[in-house]
Amino acid sequence: MKLISANIEDLRSLYISNLKKALDMEQKITKALPDLIENSTDSELSTAFRTHLEETKGHVAKVQQLLQKNDGKANTETCKVIDGLTTEASDTIKDVTDPSIRNVALIGAAQQVEHHEIAVYGTLRRWADLLGLTEDARVLLSIEKEEANADKLLTQISERVNVQVAA
Ligand SMILES: [Fe+2]
Ligand SMILES: [Fe+2]
Repeated sequence: MKLISANIEDLRSLYISNLKKALDMEQKITKALPDLIENSTDSELSTAFRTHLEETKGHVAKVQQLLQKNDGKANTETCKVIDGLTTEASDTIKDVTDPSIRNVALIGAAQQVEHHEIAVYGTLRRWADLLGLTEDARVLLSIEKEEANADKLLTQISERVNVQVAA
């Protein structure tokens, strides 16, 4: 049951509400990625996760700056999607005992997160454009590109790792 209504009446309020959810999402990803690094047994994969953890810390800072600029503070709203996706990832770590299969599973879990982030930033960027927030749109595009590159790298790694487990 929702006790407090967010009172969204215009595109600007919708934009700020979704920036708050993006901040919650990124903060939760910075907490989830160390587990993925620790549980990966493929060095290329753990390096990819480590690199993206540093990028994700940058995403937190960028979204905080956008919120400061547009809302005077950097509050969060709960992103329920990331709660589900990170729960799936930690279940995977618990349930998949074979290290090679676990690498494959970790890639799958991580790509679900990246795809969600790409959707989030694509939407926010288009709303920023509609609101005439050109600088915001530029920042959001820079984040979206890092998410897309992380996703592409995971696809490349999965092509090698998947073949190894299928053999
Ligand atoms: Fe991110
Ligand atoms: Fe990401």
